[in-house]
Parts: sequence; structure tokens; C-alpha cells
Amino acid sequence: MVPTVAVLRGDGVGPEVIDAALSVLGACFPVRVKDALIGGAAIDATGDPLPAETLEVCRQSQAALLGAVGGPKWETGSVRPESGLLRLRQGLGLYANLRPARYMGLVAPLRDGLVRHANVLVVRDLAGGVYFGEPRGTSADGSEAFDTWRQSVAQTERIAHVAFREARRRRRRVTSVDKANVLESSRLWRRTVEKVAGEYPDVELEHRYVDAMSFEMLQSPQRFDVILADNLFGDILSDEAAALVGSIGLLPSASLGDGTPLFEPVHGAAPSLAGRGIANPTGALLSVAMMLEYAFKRPDLARLVQTAVVGTLREARTPDIGGSASTHEMTALVHRHLGWLLHAEPTADETSVPYEWGV
Ligand code: NAD
Ligand code: IPM
Ligand code: MN
Repeated sequence: MVPTVAVLRGDGVGPEVIDAALSVLGACFPVRVKDALIGGAAIDATGDPLPAETLEVCRQSQAALLGAVGGPKWETGSVRPESGLLRLRQGLGLYANLRPARYMGLVAPLRDGLVRHANVLVVRDLAGGVYFGEPRGTSADGSEAFDTWRQSVAQTERIAHVAFREARRRRRRVTSVDKANVLESSRLWRRTVEKVAGEYPDVELEHRYVDAMSFEMLQSPQRFDVILADNLFGDILSDEAAALVGSIGLLPSASLGDGTPLFEPVHGAAPSLAGRGIANPTGALLSVAMMLEYAFKRPDLARLVQTAVVGTLREARTPDIGGSASTHEMTALVHRHLGWLLHAEPTADETSVPYEWGV
């Protein structure tokens, strides 16, 4: 059966990088595409950043691919595009956000010798933390606003299991990030992660306060393997990880949980680049590789897409990574590489061992 992919192009550079991603997906794996609205585009069309139909299309699909949401046009409105994405994650029961960042031989803000061995996987809890805690709001007279940071043991346990399992496929080290010297929710986080670690004696666990971690990631990035963090700290640290690699436009992500898995580049709508045809498609293309691996159990095809992308980066680069290539030129080159890779390497058939994840 040909699987269905829900495609949510969204705003800003979202549609441009998704076009690139879909063309590469189509070149190596047959899918049926179903478009749906999200973010500012959905507000404009329906008044709702996540129309019920979009959630339904995602629920009926085997994977979802999202560009980005947001932009200045909707910043002052009563409803924000970003809430569409948060409701989508919630509605699909997605709680584990995997964001790999690996040095790709590009010029990065840090010196080459320092980032050469950077290879981290941020495992971010998508369900808890200050993003969803109630109560939240603004006082009647507008003089005060408040959010609530809530973290349950159950949320923490399941994301910790994901981190330890991922670590077993990597260098077997988990660095758990919190602010346990100040926050009650972080103390619960640390206790819970410590307990889960007991089930993974072969994986090394260390803890870091988020402020120290932000420093140490830049000072000695090669020390880290899996970085386990809550919703907010994971969001921030994954953008910092992008600096190790060279651009936020390079990073992919997978959001996994109970429902349809969602794949999206880590970057946002990049409004100043929108419509100019120069957005870096790499994050979106590598998100397709993650889709092939996690949703369609085709790690062999995922590797080919990664190889084609890294090969392309030797020859053509968008302006954010120091080149002058357009999105389209980079994507065309990825197709060239993929073309010969698909012939050079026999791909695994459907009997390839599926990768199992989760608890
Ligand atoms: P951003 O990621 O959109 O941009 C940050 C910087 O990176 C900018 O300089 C931008 O030009 C650059 N950049 C981003 N993607 C790029 C790409 N593919 N190629 C080249 N350069 C790229 O973050 P921001 O500026 O803080 O946010 C802009 C809007 O996007 C906001 O509305 C924000 O809420 C939203 N946002 C959405 C998502 C998402 O949809 N997942 C993620 C982050 C931000
Ligand atoms: C991300 C974004 C989102 C987040 C926003 C747009 C809601 O920054 O996916 O990294 O904070 O999770
Ligand atoms: Mn973010």
C-alpha cells in the first residue's frame, strides 16, 4: 500500500523548503500527498491556525511533513500561527522531539578544530513544561501575565526512555539538562531521569544545569552525545546546536509519540528570506531522511538521502552557509547525487529490520 503523507507547507520559507523535500521524497519512495493548512496561511483562510480538517488529514496519514509557521503579519493578531503547531503536536499525541545536529564540514561560527567532532542528538520533551502548563494568562487590568511550568513523572519517564534508547544506538551517553538548583519541576525531572537510568546500566548519565550546558556546548561540543531536555530548554539548546553545524537551516527533526509522526526542519518561517528562493532546504531534506527511517522503516533510503545531501554541500551552498546557490540549485544537485546513489547501492527490500522506538 502506498502510504499517505500529510503536507503542511505553512508560512514564510515553509512552502519553498517543502517543495524541495517532497521532490526528493518522491524520487526514492512512492507516497500519496495530501495538502492541509496550518499557521498563518490557515488563519488567513479559515481564522484558525489548525483547522479541524488539518488534524483529521494528519490522523489519516502515515506521516506528516511540515514547513514552518509564523511571521510578522500575524504577530499582533488575537490568535498566533505558532499555536497551530503546538495544538498539532498535542492533537497527535507527539511527545518526543528528536533533533540531530552533526558537523557537516561547513564553516561554523566556532573554529573548525572545535566543531569537527560535534555530533549530538537533542531529545526534547514536547508534551510538558511551561508550554502547556495551566493556569496561564494575563490579569484583567493587563498589568501582569503568567505561565505555569508543570512537569509530571509520567511525561519525564517516557521521554527519558526515548533518550536512553537513542543513546544505545549512538555513543551511550545521556546529558540531562535542567535548572534543578532553582525550579521544583526540574528537581522532579532530575529525580525521575535518575530512576529511569537504573534500567540502562550500559548508558552513562550526567546532569547539567541549563546555563552551564549552554556554555559547555560551545566550549567542548564533542563531549556530548544525547542531550535530554524539557520543552523549553530543548527548544533553545537545539538552536544552539545548529550553530555548531553552521546554520539553523541545516537541522531536521522528528516528532514521535502516540499518533502520526511529524517531520519538520528545526528552523522557522525566516520571513526575510521568504519568496526569494534562497532558503536552505537541508533541514527539510534531512527531515525526509528521518521520515524514511522512523515512519517508513527504510534506514537504507534515509542513508542515501543523507549522503546525497552531504555530497551536495561540498559543491553548492545557499547564502546562510556562505554560498550563492538557490534552493532550487541545491535541490537539483541532491537529485543528481541521489540518482547515481540509487543505482550504485542496492536498497534493502521490505524485509529490512524495522527500527522500534519508544517505551
Ligand atoms: P527562524 O528560524 O525563522 O530564523 C532565524 C534565522 O535563521 C534568520 O536569520 C533566518 O533568516 C535564518 N534561517 C531560518 N531558516 C533558514 C533557512 N532554511 N535557510 C537559511 N536561513 C534560515 O526564527 P525566527 O526569526 O526567530 O522566527 C521567525 C518566525 O518563525 C516566528 O514567527 C517564529 O515563531 C516562527 N518559528 C516557527 C518554527 C516552526 O514552525 N517550527 C520554528 C521557529 C520559529
Ligand atoms: C520549534 C519552534 C516552536 C517551538 C514554536 C514555533 C511553537 O520554535 O519548533 O522549535 O517552540 O516548539
Ligand atoms: Mn524553536
